[in-house]
Amino acid sequence: LQQQPDLVQQLKNLNIESDSEKIKSLTFPNENVVDFYRNLITDKLSKVSGIDYNVIYDALETVNSLEKGDLSIPIPRILRGKKGLNPREINHEWAAKLGDKDSEFFIPHIKSVKAAEIFIAFYFDTEFLIKNTIPLVASKKENYGSLKLVEGKKIIIEFSSPNIAKPFHAGHLRSTIIGGFLTNLYRFMGWDVTSMNYLGDWGKQFGLLAVGFEKYGSEETLSADPINHLFEVYVKVNADVTKEKEEGIFTDDDPNSTNNQARLYFKRMADGDESALKIWARFREFSIEKYIETYARLNINYDVYSGESQVPQEKIDQALKLMHEKDLIHEDKGAKLIDLTKFNKKLGKTLVTKSDGTSLYLTRDVGAAIDRYETYKFDKMIYVIAMQQDLHTAQFFEILKQLGFEWANRLEHVNFGMVQGMSTRKGTVVFLDNILNDTKDKMHEVMQKNEAKYKQIDEPEKVADLVGVSAVMIQDMQAKRINNYEFKWERMLSFEGDTGPYLQYAHSRLKSVERNAGSLFEDLATSEVDFSLLSEECAGNLIRVISQFPDVLRVAMKNHEPSTICTYLFRLSHQVSSCYDILWVAGQEKEVAIARLALYSSARQTLYNGMKILGLTPVDRM
Ligand code: ARG
Repeated sequence: LQQQPDLVQQLKNLNIESDSEKIKSLTFPNENVVDFYRNLITDKLSKVSGIDYNVIYDALETVNSLEKGDLSIPIPRILRGKKGLNPREINHEWAAKLGDKDSEFFIPHIKSVKAAEIFIAFYFDTEFLIKNTIPLVASKKENYGSLKLVEGKKIIIEFSSPNIAKPFHAGHLRSTIIGGFLTNLYRFMGWDVTSMNYLGDWGKQFGLLAVGFEKYGSEETLSADPINHLFEVYVKVNADVTKEKEEGIFTDDDPNSTNNQARLYFKRMADGDESALKIWARFREFSIEKYIETYARLNINYDVYSGESQVPQEKIDQALKLMHEKDLIHEDKGAKLIDLTKFNKKLGKTLVTKSDGTSLYLTRDVGAAIDRYETYKFDKMIYVIAMQQDLHTAQFFEILKQLGFEWANRLEHVNFGMVQGMSTRKGTVVFLDNILNDTKDKMHEVMQKNEAKYKQIDEPEKVADLVGVSAVMIQDMQAKRINNYEFKWERMLSFEGDTGPYLQYAHSRLKSVERNAGSLFEDLATSEVDFSLLSEECAGNLIRVISQFPDVLRVAMKNHEPSTICTYLFRLSHQVSSCYDILWVAGQEKEVAIARLALYSSARQTLYNGMKILGLTPVDRM
């Protein structure tokens, strides 16, 4: 079973070899059966139409619904410049030849070629697909779907980036989930990824926090529960500031006002005063320690915890100097501004330094990018930040471009919409941990309702956590990033409909098929499998979906949409579940049972790989 088919060789045997370097770098027939078909179809269609191989290869599209074929091509896209051909007629003519066994243009291993509207649709021969895809999955295992799209390319993916002492809000959660997914996907596709968390750990509010900690802080609580405690302190000291203002206790510039003390404190920090920095460093350290634990629940381990505080002053100075040299800065009432409307009207004017000389969020981002480029020499850098910061991001991207950094065009902003109504059960402010704990508890309650099943689970609490986490993540990833969505406990935790628990259930059920097969499954890897026994339509359709997986990942690399993979995994799971009634394993003749088991097993592996890329931990029982 684990003998990996050599589809490159098969293409050679059929005399199909593109001489285009570009296509060679795009195509992976040995890892992706659909690429085998792409080459095959392109070759024949190019010959029958006289249209360039490259043009056709680029125009072949994957199809989302099985009725519409496996690959399809919109004829107008390849007729560019060819006058006098009607796409709605010529497609019928070509399709007839491509599907005719007696024609020299006949495409082998294809079940049918159909012309409709302006398209030609190609339906793969499922027997060929089964024979090649199942062993491919069985031999690649956790790597099925991985295509080495690049070699030795570096990418930095910056995501999550919460602010110390402030709530980890829904925006940070989304950034975390999407960024974790992108990290996995890029790694899977051969990139050298550095995942980075750019903490909001600098600015006047840390002066305020330090002042507040002297009044309200407790060392003990800080080390036990830093994130909640710092937030508590922050809320209290902010209340003091408000109260002082409202009750007119101090005027704004009274040196004794809390606000002023905070400003002075931060000024000391910015000037490098060690005693002032010491306490801040502890806040930072404790928070990071706690974050590491929480992120681990989401399968995320950062390569780098950076932060606004870590941007070297000299990089910020360098940026400011360049801005002057390039004549980008003008002064207005003592403030330094940069006018970006010259380059793009929407970008407006923006402040680049504060009157007291301390840096701003924007300039820190400019300095941080310069620093990162010098350190990592990345080929690409992705920022996963909420769309509320579209303007901010576009501004610092434009500034970097205007400063003349040629790598500025390697930056990409992956944005997303809002989450509405995310609060804990008690309705308190949300920290990631609280949300995950709540979900876990709820999931645990749901699981306990099925007593018999519950008893079979080894570590029910752990499973409840993993399934709960999937619920949160899938709810977040199942629609296009840019859409807003409402955080809904009931729907998210349901086992029905397209939810995280449903995917987990689909995986655990496939696991149980393998378990129940006992020794048959244990010997599967080394068994001879008679694939011709998988002649049912549902088996063919299931393998068609399984074979699309590498392509789906490739699409996701382009659109950076986790929903592309989510949608696919739901289609896969639905296809599997429609096979259960028809393709039994238990009680079948050995040969039949083995073949079916091999099919289910490749479905499970594919589901597993997709879930892992999304950042989930597939469970074996639930
Ligand atoms: N800490 C910021 C916030 O919570 C997000 C940082 C995003 N990343 C960046 N490079 N600006 O709003």
